[in-house]
Amino acid sequence: MPLHRTASIVVLTGAGISRESGLHTFRDADGIWATVRLEDVATPEAFARNPRRVQEFYNARRRGLLDPAVRPNAAHAALAELERRWGGGVLVVTQNIDDLHERAGSRNLIHMHGELLKAVCVRCRTVTEWRGDLSMEDVCPACARAGGLRPDVVWFGEMPYQMDRIGEALAGCDLFVSIGTSGNVYPAAGFVAEAGRYGAQTVELNLEPSAGATEFARSIHGLATAVVPAFVRSLLDGADI
Ligand code: APR
Repeated sequence: MPLHRTASIVVLTGAGISRESGLHTFRDADGIWATVRLEDVATPEAFARNPRRVQEFYNARRRGLLDPAVRPNAAHAALAELERRWGGGVLVVTQNIDDLHERAGSRNLIHMHGELLKAVCVRCRTVTEWRGDLSMEDVCPACARAGGLRPDVVWFGEMPYQMDRIGEALAGCDLFVSIGTSGNVYPAAGFVAEAGRYGAQTVELNLEPSAGATEFARSIHGLATAVVPAFVRSLLDGADI
């Protein structure tokens, strides 16, 4: 059945949507966690134990993201087009810390795991745009103290950002679409069940069935740059979803 044009859509994205832009995922065979232990670089304890190691991990990823060869792909562009042309609301909730959704034109966007191109001061909590390397010697532009700046990224064991706003969106949406995520990490992995409880239609677009595949009413498997534009076209053409 076609989705009515004033319907509200929530889209959750994960690392898979950025894979064809040249950014690695986490749990694929060539993923980030195949080369480094998350316990060593993506927890508050790791930062307390060896801040330099953690800063270097994110410095390398920040430099990688700023490589001119890394650009938004057709999947990011399709979601930005959906937001522009859809009559109802379209909210993208991304687990990704890259800026590819913004660069593709998405505006109604939540980075629930933070942003690689921002730094936060643990002392004054000020968030600052940060595109260069970050070190413990850097001085917070707001409180002028050194030694407190960290990537504005949500680590394991920390609360993701804007969960209240996300919960409201899930409760009010007519369609929940999950793209390029393995469904391994909560709370994001629980969004499909939450949206479904409120009566939303649920669709998964992923290279392969995710850990939560059985919770979706429909699954479409393939490369994000193929399946996402095709799905957006079907929505805009009023096709059955
Ligand atoms: N097109 C579509 N899907 C793809 C593609 C692609 N080109 N390439 C990979 N995928 C799929 C994989 O099959 C996998 O299901 O994307 C998913 C990526 O899963 P993960 O690597 O687990 O990444 P993600 O789900 O975003 O991880 C969630 O875990 O480590 C934390 O904070 C980190 O935000 C991250 C969270």
